[in-house]
Amino acid sequence: MHSPQRAFDFLVLGSGIAGLTFALKVADHGRVAIVTKKNRADSNTNWAQGGIASVTSKEDSFELHVRDTLEAGAGLCRESVVRTIVEEGPARIAELIELGTRFTERDIPDSSGARELDLTREGGHSKRRILHARDATGAEIERALLAAIARHPNIAVFENHHAIDFITTGKLGVSGPNRMAGVYVLNQPENRVEVFASPVTVLATGGSGKVYLYTTNPDIATGDGLAMAFRAGAAVSNMEFVQFHPTCLFHPKAKTYLISEAVRGEGAYLLGADRRRFMPNYDPRAEMAPRDIVARAIDSEMKRTGADCVFLDISHKPAEFIREHFPNIHAKCMEYGIDMTREPIPVVPAAHYQCGGVVTNVDGETEIAGLYAIGEVACTGLHGANRLASNSLLEALVCAHRASLKALKFESGSLPGLLPPWQPGGATDADELVVVSHNWDEIRRTLWDYVGIVRTDKRLRRAEKRLANLQEEIREFYWDFKVTPDLLELRNLATVAELIVACALQRPESRGLHYNLDHPHPDPAWQQRDSRVQRISG
Ligand code: SIN
Repeated sequence: MHSPQRAFDFLVLGSGIAGLTFALKVADHGRVAIVTKKNRADSNTNWAQGGIASVTSKEDSFELHVRDTLEAGAGLCRESVVRTIVEEGPARIAELIELGTRFTERDIPDSSGARELDLTREGGHSKRRILHARDATGAEIERALLAAIARHPNIAVFENHHAIDFITTGKLGVSGPNRMAGVYVLNQPENRVEVFASPVTVLATGGSGKVYLYTTNPDIATGDGLAMAFRAGAAVSNMEFVQFHPTCLFHPKAKTYLISEAVRGEGAYLLGADRRRFMPNYDPRAEMAPRDIVARAIDSEMKRTGADCVFLDISHKPAEFIREHFPNIHAKCMEYGIDMTREPIPVVPAAHYQCGGVVTNVDGETEIAGLYAIGEVACTGLHGANRLASNSLLEALVCAHRASLKALKFESGSLPGLLPPWQPGGATDADELVVVSHNWDEIRRTLWDYVGIVRTDKRLRRAEKRLANLQEEIREFYWDFKVTPDLLELRNLATVAELIVACALQRPESRGLHYNLDHPHPDPAWQQRDSRVQRISG
């Protein structure tokens, strides 16, 4: 299997808001490759409904946005990072608009006749501050960014290319600090592994929702970037903080369809099996409490009543208002025979967002020189123990900008000209694909059953044991057989699952999204302590 080498100044893995923003910002200064394992628009960003949180209204302030973020983060956010991201948000949003992103505007012009942006609300926000494009904000941002990417002559997009592992100077036996030299990439259409050489690699591969049986994430969310970075020796933190979105559509035929938090922001109530509101019994903010609280309340209601789901009801609002604000959600529900203008929507919590990730500073720098991580794959300290709704697109934008400034100044020193080709070893075609899909199912069910919204030490230990057995099997499989996209994803998913459990076992308390019945209260000793896992060998 011949393995040609391609060389770039900047290599971006992932084609969501973080990766595309970074690529656009450096493209005037060098050749950029964007490597993406499916089509360019297959990203978590494209699925984001709610919007971007940022201070754009006169009634709002940076101080309030910072306060809401810190409060949702349950004591674990890094305040300086929160402040930077919140304060730089408006400038980055202005750039997005300049690029052609069309956010929804208010129907009524202000006194000067200008149209203001419409702002919606989500849980944990004390003010209306979510910019949105109806209920398909991510898709609108992705559209604008991809159009700009297509216009830039220095950017090449490699679709259906699956990154496998990093090539670092540490692995090559080059002396000095560990630096990035390139990445092995499976070119799926050609069915061969290629070397992409670059002094700078940007991980913008998103999250890992597929590690759970039920998730709001698209199929691509298998934690590839996180697992690669971990294998290469980068530190990973706070993976125990998996955010479960409270309201995923519950229907036998619907796979992973999110009902945006903005629906609650615009007045929807959560109802139990008896069709009565229950959130006021759990928190004075009721349906507008932060997500960890709402998801746990739903879990507890479902366990208490034995019901399969709860209900989200906005039918008390005028039908026209609902259709206007939520055209896509309304249409999707209608496909399943649910008319949200007249009846409540059955919903359940599902894995939604990975708050932990590869440890970075606010500039996206990791502990490996030349490796940057931005967006959901990174752990900057913004989200702490629970992400405030709609802060993630904001973080991706701000950190992509800051990482681009650092990457443009980065001096890699001399790197080997020709990197070693991929060694397929004695690989043969895999005829045991059924084992891959069986292991994949087992990981997802194990995480759902033992590492879900409510945890115990015993369940975590049980998950740890099962995952260790699976890892052994997957490792054998990986070395014996030719790599396929499914096998690569399975290997990465297993690593992410182990990291979530390892981080959860480190934290002997309950905080934010991590709730352990054996340690049901926050421990002040852990208030500002991150969990952390790192492989010694690079
Ligand atoms: C939503 O629309 O509810 C998702 C927004 C987010 O996850 O930040």
